[in-house]
Amino acid sequence: MLDKGSNGSIADDRIKAAIVKSYSVENGYPARRRSLVDDARFESKINTECRKSIIEEVKALFSPSEETIMEDDLFLDNEITTLISQPIQRLCMIFKSKENLGSLHKILKTIESCKGTILHVESRKSQWNDADSSDILFKMDIPREGLFSLLSTFKQDNNIFDVQVIRDPTNVKDCWYPKHISDLDRCNHLISKYEPDLDQDHPGFSDKQYRKRRQMVANIAFSYTYGDPIPRIEYTEDEKRTWKAVFDKVEDLLESHCCKQFRDILEILKKEVGFCSEKIPQLEDLSNFLKRRTGFSLRPAAGLLSARDFLASLAFRVFQCTQYIRHHNAPHHSPEPDAVHELLGHVPMLADPQFAQFSQELGIASIGASDADIEKIATLYWFTVEFGLCKENGKLKAYGAGLLSSYGELLHALSDKPEHKPFEPSACAVQAYQDQDFQDIYFVAETLEDCQFKFRRWVEENIRRPYDLWYNPFTQTLEVLDSTEKVHQVTKQINWDLNSIQFALKRLGTL
Ligand SMILES: [Fe+2]
Repeated sequence: MLDKGSNGSIADDRIKAAIVKSYSVENGYPARRRSLVDDARFESKINTECRKSIIEEVKALFSPSEETIMEDDLFLDNEITTLISQPIQRLCMIFKSKENLGSLHKILKTIESCKGTILHVESRKSQWNDADSSDILFKMDIPREGLFSLLSTFKQDNNIFDVQVIRDPTNVKDCWYPKHISDLDRCNHLISKYEPDLDQDHPGFSDKQYRKRRQMVANIAFSYTYGDPIPRIEYTEDEKRTWKAVFDKVEDLLESHCCKQFRDILEILKKEVGFCSEKIPQLEDLSNFLKRRTGFSLRPAAGLLSARDFLASLAFRVFQCTQYIRHHNAPHHSPEPDAVHELLGHVPMLADPQFAQFSQELGIASIGASDADIEKIATLYWFTVEFGLCKENGKLKAYGAGLLSSYGELLHALSDKPEHKPFEPSACAVQAYQDQDFQDIYFVAETLEDCQFKFRRWVEENIRRPYDLWYNPFTQTLEVLDSTEKVHQVTKQINWDLNSIQFALKRLGTL
């Protein structure tokens, strides 16, 4: 939780409400079943509301005259979104002060106490209306929780009679996003509080022992950092029975309802890591399995994450995974993500190279995207990775994890009750989502390759960024391709790989 300092403002509280407890039952989240799409939509709504109130708060805080701080000077369009959704902001602040050195020292100290990192300082005689005052410009990185404490502190300082927050011209590129895989330690914002402690409809609501156990397992995620081995869980007999109930049911439908990729990997999982109905696999073992197959890895998550954080992880081939098991009274339904869904539904598909590539591309597309685009990408994720269908020898098969880990919905999805639409990203990205029952509509891809190809084209045409990103698997870093030199460097790397392939083809006599 964020601390409320003594000088915390109402805006601080709104930020906290939006970030820490948003999308929760106490915020009036209406959905029965939590999903990335709903959370992205709700996040977007909260951000818009927050934007309005923050601008009003800040205007009231500093400026008796409206023109001192203009809305557009404060936070421009996507930047307010960035302010709310990104842990660190890069921005410039101009202070109008009566004293130069004295104020400079005070401002430096205050920024430091608000955990800001100063990148650049400039001072000059004021060019506004008071020749005796100074303008001091600071360019800084500052955590979102520190920004409003900082503004509130200066409000009470008589020597500083105006503050202007302006965007850094390079902000679009420099806004915070995870650049190295270890930065995912900061991408763990829980947005769903649809937990047994809070919701009377949760199957575990009246089971104190279950709630305690779930909390204990979920807490592992809070102390996990990049590079740690994932703690192993000693699952209880109840939990093992729940896993077995779901596993056995899905196995019954394996040949008739599940796609070839899932069936093939399930066999490999059985041979290599002893994947079976009798034992709940450990995250660490499956993570190591995935690293060998596709370079994906798992990291523990305490619940449903914000769409932005969850999708960002995919860019690094990291899948954030819950470790607790749903309540034993409802083995075939969980209102929140749990290990049965993640391990049985997601892991086998992430071990398929084509699907792993598609998942990573969904993640890369989300980096630096606007709220509106995040909502679209989350919807595409929902109708593909979670509830996607594909064709196989003229028949429908499931490849979405929400289907592969749910007997009831798997039967429904392949029946003639729902509508089956051909997968077209532009239609899929804005498709209304059914959250009260099984889906009414499923999107059918010709093949997984076709799905990936169409998505790629959609990203090219629809996601507007002044730069592109490339994942360097050697350094596990997202590199910004914003100059011809950088593109040239990546091209060189790809050329070396192509040379090796050419050489291999020559050896095989096929070239
Ligand atoms: Fe899922």
